[in-house]
Amino acid sequence: MIILGIETTCDETGISLIECENNRLRILKNELASQYKVHNKFGGVVPILAAREHTKNLPILLKKINQDFNLEKIDYLAFSVGPGLLPALIAGKEFVIKLAEKLNKKIIPVDHLSAHWYSVLIKNKSGWQKIKQIDFPTLILIVSGGHTNLYLFENWGKRKKLGQTLDDAAGESLDKAARILNLGYPGGPQIEKMSKLAKKYYMLPKPILNKGYNFSFSGLKTAFSELVKEIKKYQKLNQQTVADLSFSFQKTVFEILIYKIKKAVSEFSPKTIIVAGGVSANQTLRKMIKNVLPNFKIYFPEKTLATDNGVNIALAGYLLVKNKRKVIGASKLDVYQRLP
Ligand SMILES: Nc1ncnc2c1ncn2[C@@H]1O[C@H](COP(=O)(O)OP(=O)(O)OP(=O)(O)O)[C@@H](O)[C@H]1O
Ligand SMILES: [Mg+2]
Repeated sequence: MIILGIETTCDETGISLIECENNRLRILKNELASQYKVHNKFGGVVPILAAREHTKNLPILLKKINQDFNLEKIDYLAFSVGPGLLPALIAGKEFVIKLAEKLNKKIIPVDHLSAHWYSVLIKNKSGWQKIKQIDFPTLILIVSGGHTNLYLFENWGKRKKLGQTLDDAAGESLDKAARILNLGYPGGPQIEKMSKLAKKYYMLPKPILNKGYNFSFSGLKTAFSELVKEIKKYQKLNQQTVADLSFSFQKTVFEILIYKIKKAVSEFSPKTIIVAGGVSANQTLRKMIKNVLPNFKIYFPEKTLATDNGVNIALAGYLLVKNKRKVIGASKLDVYQRLP
């Protein structure tokens, strides 16, 4: 089965082609157009600009795939219908509808968050590979630019959401902290880089740490912003101070995430843990989680599959079709800022 996966939920335009059979997969093409340069000067994603970039980039990426692959051979189009930025999703939807009509193919609507958690099952490499099987129950943390969700999965079809962020997502908070420090967008990787130079730790608050499985990062961001203002009163923000502040913010965010993971591990005794989404690309976070849970089988996506891309969407599409989930005609396609 050949699936074309299309991703346009936020600021990455991705189109990928995968071939799958009997729980095996090979990536035939993986095209990605990153928009960070467009959004960098605004310190965050501007939805209408993201939409414009998707409209511009989608035909370019498809052309690259079409160069040595006959699109008629595709069985399904998998498209991430949300959650995401509405203008960006609408730009993707218009493209997918036209393509599905032209090729006379059905569409597999894919939940963007499921694409993040399935991303740990494969490697970003060419050639055939087995799709990993994992042991359940599994605890899943999706930690990305738009979400900080903690779930317990009994199997892929049965899950319970334990908690989510009540305000900013963890990735969003890293992006905002980076903006406060003038480090550019996306902030997570910049904060990670600067943190490595740190020599000092500034204590910051951990809101609602002891209250269940929800998260809250906006109060932390405000406290951080106040701290930076205070420091600026008596000194210029030199590179060392930016490094110390980056480290302190990152450490605080990650300790909050790990506290809740540990709490869920002791309450629900999962057999495995999955941490996925853009922030899971962070090497310090990975090390910190492995250090506190040394005996656990913990799955992270490959760095290039942690952030948004078309391969994750195509893979999620394959798993849906394999499990007999419905495919739809182009006229039925709809997109969602928040999934219903
Ligand atoms: N190395 C890193 N360390 C920390 N954060 C990172 C790193 N790389 C990327 N991020 C963060 O990941 C986020 C982007 O991740 P992703 O592409 O999964 O999110 P999104 O698609 O915008 O949101 P969602 O998936 O919730 O809809 C950004 O907030 C970015 O700062
Ligand atoms: Mg994402």
